[in-house]
Amino acid sequence: MTVKLGLVGTGTVGSGCIDIIQKHHDDFKRHYGIEIELAQVCSRNPEQAIAHGVEDIFTQDYHDIIQNPDIDIVIELIGGTTAAKTLVMEALAAGKHVVTANKALMATCGQEIMDLADEQECEIAFEASVGGGIPIIDPMKHSLISNQVNTVLGIVNGTTNYMLTRMAEDNMSYDDALKEAQAQGFAEADPTADVDGFDAAAKIAILASIAFNSRVTLDQVSTEGIRGIMPTDLLAAKEMGYCVKLLAIANRTAKGIDVRVHPTMLPLTHPLATVNGVFNAIYVVGDAVGETMFFGEGAGAGPAASAVMGDVLEVARHVQAGVKPLVGCTCTDHLPLVPMESLSTRYYIRFVVEDRSGVLAATADVFAQHGVSVYSVIQRGTQSGESVDLVYVTHMAQEKNIRAVIADVCKLDGVLAGNHEPTVIRVER
Ligand SMILES: NC(=O)c1ccc[n+]([C@@H]2O[C@H](COP(=O)([O-])OP(=O)(O)OC[C@H]3O[C@@H](n4cnc5c(N)ncnc54)[C@H](OP(=O)(O)O)[C@@H]3O)[C@@H](O)[C@H]2O)c1
Repeated sequence: MTVKLGLVGTGTVGSGCIDIIQKHHDDFKRHYGIEIELAQVCSRNPEQAIAHGVEDIFTQDYHDIIQNPDIDIVIELIGGTTAAKTLVMEALAAGKHVVTANKALMATCGQEIMDLADEQECEIAFEASVGGGIPIIDPMKHSLISNQVNTVLGIVNGTTNYMLTRMAEDNMSYDDALKEAQAQGFAEADPTADVDGFDAAAKIAILASIAFNSRVTLDQVSTEGIRGIMPTDLLAAKEMGYCVKLLAIANRTAKGIDVRVHPTMLPLTHPLATVNGVFNAIYVVGDAVGETMFFGEGAGAGPAASAVMGDVLEVARHVQAGVKPLVGCTCTDHLPLVPMESLSTRYYIRFVVEDRSGVLAATADVFAQHGVSVYSVIQRGTQSGESVDLVYVTHMAQEKNIRAVIADVCKLDGVLAGNHEPTVIRVER
């Protein structure tokens, strides 16, 4: 039996998938007995279809694919949550299996999509939505299934990891690192989703849902990006034996699940500390397996298409064998989310203050008033001849107390708020 594919979206990932199908089609059949045929391709314009010699199966209307009774698997590669959601829901309603790379869609509408897939006895596979080419969803749903997963930590955004690496290694400013990432094609013209942490938040929402068998959506992830980070923070971290990463964090705690994205100081001895440049890695701790780490390229035509095609071939194998979906939604528990205010960790906080006596003592008083114990305080560098950085590192403290400290310190005479928002980096042990 030949399994027929309908692919929608011929941009970076879609083109990568067509390349893989054209290059390895015969290998799939010879090695694994999986026979697939790219039966229809849809996009808004035909350029890529023409470039790949598939204009004879091209359409500009995805309904042609959904209404085609021969198509078994619809591959959604258009992105976003509007047209993509309609496409995915209509494809499932028409009884087609769906493979998608869409993190935003799965992190916001995952439950609705999986319920429909379940109802229709169709598969919905989304490996490429997290970590690009890194296999992580399939290992968590299969190889690690015998574990209770307690922690997932991820460097899941290549743009910000590239920028932080350049800032740390070459003392580059945030603006220069962003410009370079854009010039290299690692950052979008509008970098908001990456630098403000939303891309990483969608990915950790998906991973947390799988890891803890409990649905987490994008809007539930407490998210902070890297805009406030300066080379001086990265230098200070290095002097303390740490590096700074935009970390996507999901922890199982006694009170529920703690899911967040923010710049994080990691000890240089942590396995994730060696992950630099555009690379991604996901560190998973299970009660039986212990520590594991999955590493690779988190974006790009080849890596993302590799993950999409892995899903396509697995679903095609099931279609050929006539088996019903084996793994559907695994969110059977409803664990509470731990509010960010009750987080307890160590903090690095950098204030910009006037370089004059009395300011340090006044700031230290505020920490004491809120019961936040200070591990160290250092005055670093000069901002403009008149201002300096005041860098506090705390002992374990509660987020709500730290927020109160910051609000009160910012009201002090001599503390430059406004254009100089304090930089907060949580310190992971
Ligand atoms: N790029 C990566 O490295 C990567 C990695 C992992 C996951 N992903 C995910 O993969 C998906 C695709 O990303 P991408 O980078 O390949 O995006 P892309 O390069 O922007 O490609 C999107 C394609 O979809 C087409 N399209 C958009 N709306 C359409 C519609 N209503 N009907 C038909 N075609 C439509 C676009 O046509 P036009 O050219 O006319 O706009 C374009 O060909 C996204 O969900 C993304 O998050 C991407």
